[in-house]
Amino acid sequence: MTVQRSTNPIILAIESSCDETSAAVWMNGTVVSNVTASQDVHTRYGGVVPELASRVHQQHIVPVVQNALVASGVTMKEIDAVAVTIGPGLIGSLLVGISFAKGLALTLNKPLIGVNHMQAHVAAHYIDQPMQFPFLCLTVSGGHTQIVIVRDYMQMEIIGQTRDDAAGEAFDKAAKLLGLPYPGGPLIDKHAQRGKPVFQFPEPQIPGYDFSFSGLKTSFLYFLQHKLKSDSTFVDKNMDDICASIQDRIVSILLNKLKQAANDYNITHVALAGGVSANSGLRNGFEAMGKQEGWKTFIPKFEYCTDNAAMIAAAAAKLFHQGDFVELDVTPKVRMPF
Ligand code: KG4
Ligand code: ZN
Repeated sequence: MTVQRSTNPIILAIESSCDETSAAVWMNGTVVSNVTASQDVHTRYGGVVPELASRVHQQHIVPVVQNALVASGVTMKEIDAVAVTIGPGLIGSLLVGISFAKGLALTLNKPLIGVNHMQAHVAAHYIDQPMQFPFLCLTVSGGHTQIVIVRDYMQMEIIGQTRDDAAGEAFDKAAKLLGLPYPGGPLIDKHAQRGKPVFQFPEPQIPGYDFSFSGLKTSFLYFLQHKLKSDSTFVDKNMDDICASIQDRIVSILLNKLKQAANDYNITHVALAGGVSANSGLRNGFEAMGKQEGWKTFIPKFEYCTDNAAMIAAAAAKLFHQGDFVELDVTPKVRMPF
């Protein structure tokens, strides 16, 4: 295999770690195409069904990659490297993207770049702008909640993370209790925009920068059960205010820890990343806190918040320049430290 270390590589990136099949092309130092196919097959099960997810990735992967290439105007022959998410994620989902990427790298005789999905969420910030280091990133997704110190492009340290549910899971589980379909996070956001946070939920007292959301889920369940006992229409009548209240608490848990970390480490460049950073309450609260604290704040574009291959490409471009490639016998990682 020949590794030509072009200073301006063309990279085809693939993401399939959960339930989005995505492909992107990186060229001239930015993303020129980013195509994502979602899976609505999980809605009626109230969560991602791993077996179904991998089957649907099998259906989506070829057209998604073809569409990304067509949209970029790049041909297979022009690709300098193939990049793929190797973890963390669902094993069967990761296998589809990794096997496809391996086959492509082998056929094209080009290097393979293995990308950590959580690092890639942070790397979404490298798509459109230069970043200054260090910066702090709150990465909030369906499976993870992390406070990360980013010392250089791909040099990251997790200083805080969830001890149980992720922030996205907290949104989705609250939504499920309210009878909203999966994924409920965006629906809670929608209702919350019309409501007021009039109901109070406790803030967990966890030392350091770690998070916990399981207690909040339990108190939310007890709150609903208690209210529904005396008024069976309570949820229907108060959906907007209930959503505003639970969202407000999840957001304050996240932002209070972020503020603490930024103060302790004396870092003033602060970023959001991951699917939950699409949440309007979190975005607004983050901007307001940034103003108050004198931070320079960074939020990815909407399309780069939830799972996408553009962020995989952005991370891969940095790894390419470091000569950081993986062998073709690489295997998927359900868990993957930085
Ligand atoms: O990063 P992501 O797309 O996938 C994972 O890597 O997990 O995050 C998905 C999570 C889901 O839990 C979804 O409900 C949540 O992000 N999410 C939101 C919003 N948009 C996506 N949660 C709250 N408000 C939103 N607007
Ligand atoms: Zn993600």
